[in-house]
Amino acid sequence: MLNTSIASRNKTRIAQQFSRAANTYNSAADVQLDIALDALAFVPAHYSAHYKSGLDIGCGTGRISQQLAARGENLIAMDLAFGMLDYAKQDALVGAESICWVQGDAECLPLVDNSVDMVFSSMALQWSHNQQKVMSEIARVMAFDSNALLAIMCEGSFSQLNDSWHTIDSQRHVNNFASAQTWYNAAKSEGLQVTMHEKQYVTWHKNVRQLMSSIKSIGANVLLTTQDITEQSKCQSKNTFNRHTLQLLETIYQHKYAENLQLPLTYQVCFLQCSK
Ligand SMILES: C[S@@+](CC[C@H](N)C(=O)[O-])C[C@H]1O[C@@H](n2cnc3c(N)ncnc32)[C@H](O)[C@@H]1O
Repeated sequence: MLNTSIASRNKTRIAQQFSRAANTYNSAADVQLDIALDALAFVPAHYSAHYKSGLDIGCGTGRISQQLAARGENLIAMDLAFGMLDYAKQDALVGAESICWVQGDAECLPLVDNSVDMVFSSMALQWSHNQQKVMSEIARVMAFDSNALLAIMCEGSFSQLNDSWHTIDSQRHVNNFASAQTWYNAAKSEGLQVTMHEKQYVTWHKNVRQLMSSIKSIGANVLLTTQDITEQSKCQSKNTFNRHTLQLLETIYQHKYAENLQLPLTYQVCFLQCSK
């Protein structure tokens, strides 16, 4: 587990990066929309239709929060990034008055125990290194007889990019994602009943530059650090890459993975249906 100062520095960087990406997010985040809509479809109608108090963790630009709000009485849409919340508030349609936009952290939910009937989260929780803390917070705020649907990017994601970088150097260029089993175990150990599904999504890109910019325009280009500040700066200086390195990465990625002149990028997602 990370020490608290590294974890809080990571969170500041995540919040800054997603805030910066708020204006470009919706037009670039097609796969994230597919995943969130699949997640919504996993929410059984009988418990999403009439919830009293819902929570969307890592709501981003709020496009799914608006759909969730239409299914219940009150929704708290929460995100770490102020920029995302600002965008979401302005973008909210008439009828979204039942949404309360809140800045907060999945690892420390600003809610009282047993207060939420329906928890939803799509493509946000993988940004936390502390899966157990996240699941204990979700279990804590869930009311008895309530449900949660969590779609989380997990191990196996960005595998082609990771593998291509490994051919070039031994630096870490892609975040480590916890396994689906780790998330499942964390939820189970909080006493929740859990059913898990996994699904792979693939996006296609004409070159590495466009592939990396697809990650950047949704704000997901923060390389989380696991080291103290001195080690991190040494690592960052090695990690900067020039045009030559990018060309090498292009050649390797093309050689190993191109199909019909397109480069694939995998998103491995687990869907956890939890009940308390
Ligand atoms: C890829 S976006 C997903 C947004 C939205 N759920 C969707 O499906 O379009 C991830 C969001 O999670 C937020 N996030 C990351 N870490 C978080 C944390 N610890 N607590 C709350 N939100 C977090 C980011 O700020 C970002 O807005």
